[in-house]
Amino acid sequence: MPSPRKAPQSLQNEMDEVLNAVNKTIAKILPETDLPEDRLYEAMRYGTLNGGKRLRPFLVIQSANLFNVNPRRSRRVAAALEFVHCYSLIHDDLPAMDDSDTRRGKPSTHKAFDNATAILAGDALLALAFEILADPETHEDPHVRTELISKLARAAGGHGLCGGQILDLIGEKEEFDVGTISRLQRMKTGGLMAFACEAGAILGKTDGPHRKALCNYAHDLGLAFQVTDDVLDVEADPDTTGKPANQDALAGKSTFVSTMGKDAAKMRAEMLVAQATRHLQMFGSRADTLKELAEYVLMRRA
Ligand code: IPE
Ligand code: IPE
Ligand code: MG
Ligand code: MG
Ligand code: MG
Repeated sequence: MPSPRKAPQSLQNEMDEVLNAVNKTIAKILPETDLPEDRLYEAMRYGTLNGGKRLRPFLVIQSANLFNVNPRRSRRVAAALEFVHCYSLIHDDLPAMDDSDTRRGKPSTHKAFDNATAILAGDALLALAFEILADPETHEDPHVRTELISKLARAAGGHGLCGGQILDLIGEKEEFDVGTISRLQRMKTGGLMAFACEAGAILGKTDGPHRKALCNYAHDLGLAFQVTDDVLDVEADPDTTGKPANQDALAGKSTFVSTMGKDAAKMRAEMLVAQATRHLQMFGSRADTLKELAEYVLMRRA
């Protein structure tokens, strides 16, 4: 029996390939400077090049591949999305939010620098993401660029990540029911994942059922991913996740684990992953990697 803790080798190879390509793109976009404000750029590099699975970039690139998009374009969109994700992690770890001292196995950005620098590095990464999407180098068609910008803005703002994050903090004081927790998690995590997949279709100038199917897949996958994150918070080894354990319970957060227990939460994640892969049926074997990725979300330990 293969170990259930690792992605299958072929998927792992594809994920490594994306990780290396996206890291190169990020490093190129964020070069070292000798400007007096270099400390800001140093923190931006630290908060983005400090590791990470690059799962959202993988989704962008795999979805774009379904529509034969030029990889140079999908890599830029992948980097922009990863900047938004990294900004959200830098701010999520701040004392005013989850107060986490470690991230990706290293001191969190505010620990390696200071709170003010971490706030500004996050802000600058968020702004940079939109600068990249607005650049004709990302796509020559302004309609494509505008659509990418408006979809990412929606996923990152009050209807998405920020709205989900405030619900997450309110959930430390109030007990939420399963419906509210699902909505919270769809907003804080599902939105960026859905953007990742939809961006592939936008770059491929595809509308209609294929695009809708990818969005549905990503929403279910995003929710399953966050449920698994909540399970890992209680059962994973911090040396593997690279972040402190039991953070959610210590903060009194409302999660699937706190409301329905770990086993039911795992079953919920399994059901969501099965549902996610069903949305991909119309792509046939061309979506096999995305299907495998959904299975990996269940088995992951980091
Ligand atoms: C962590 O995301 C935050 C959540 C949405 C659960 P990831 O688990 O994708 O973090 P990295 O990018 O691999 O560090
Ligand atoms: C944060 O969720 C998701 C974001 C939008 C940043 P968590 O607070 O559960 O993420 P971790 O566990 O710190 O990575
Ligand atoms: Mg949080
Ligand atoms: Mg956190
Ligand atoms: Mg968590």
